[in-house]
Amino acid sequence: MRKLFFANWKTYLSDTEAETLARSYAERAAAVSADLAIAPGFTALEGVARALEGSSVALGAQDAFWNDEGAHTGEVTPKQLAAIGARFVIVGHSERRALGETDELIARKAAAVAADGMTPVLCVGETAEERDASSQERVVQAQLEAVLGSWTDAPFVVAYEPRWAIGTGRPCEPKDVEAMHAFIRSKLEERNLTARVLYGGSVDPSNLMTYLAVPNVDGVLIGGASTKPAEVLAMLDLLAS
Ligand code: 13P
Repeated sequence: MRKLFFANWKTYLSDTEAETLARSYAERAAAVSADLAIAPGFTALEGVARALEGSSVALGAQDAFWNDEGAHTGEVTPKQLAAIGARFVIVGHSERRALGETDELIARKAAAVAADGMTPVLCVGETAEERDASSQERVVQAQLEAVLGSWTDAPFVVAYEPRWAIGTGRPCEPKDVEAMHAFIRSKLEERNLTARVLYGGSVDPSNLMTYLAVPNVDGVLIGGASTKPAEVLAMLDLLAS
């Protein structure tokens, strides 16, 4: 299976910057030997969708509400995201867990996203304290179980993002990534589930190919570096060669 290069633009770009950068992803997509996806901020979704038209780059969203029905001021529903052309939705990103999102809420979001025909990208990962206490596998297993415990056959993606490696420039050692990805794969296999498992956390042009070569790493989820035009070009060049 081709690797997935997934850009999470967080709150970094204006809508105009997002549209411009999306065009440069779209222009290079055909030369790249990986699947590309971009999750811009909500306000940029429409412009980025336009910029990606006719290319193979998939549109994603960074979050979704857990219910399509009813009146929910301030939320964006999976149905609205599907209508704008989103194919992936990130759920359970650590920056949202830090705001109080629980495993139960994340499970509802993942189910709602899948019910609307999109692919949830479930983020899991431990804090620095949890790793120091060697409890990373227990933490990740609980995060997986909460969402996949009753999962059936809808497509999904898992992203392992150790919290202490996000936006810190302190990437996880490839051997630690390898161990965790093997663990996640074994948990999926126990449930007869197949999914791409991405690594995320301070990925940039200097370490992209190292992570992609780690066993059981099916792609990367990239924040900061995926928003900087020079780093984007460098990474897409690496994927083209
Ligand atoms: P950075 O690549 O900025 O560390 O962010 C990773 C991330 O959180 C992607 O979802």
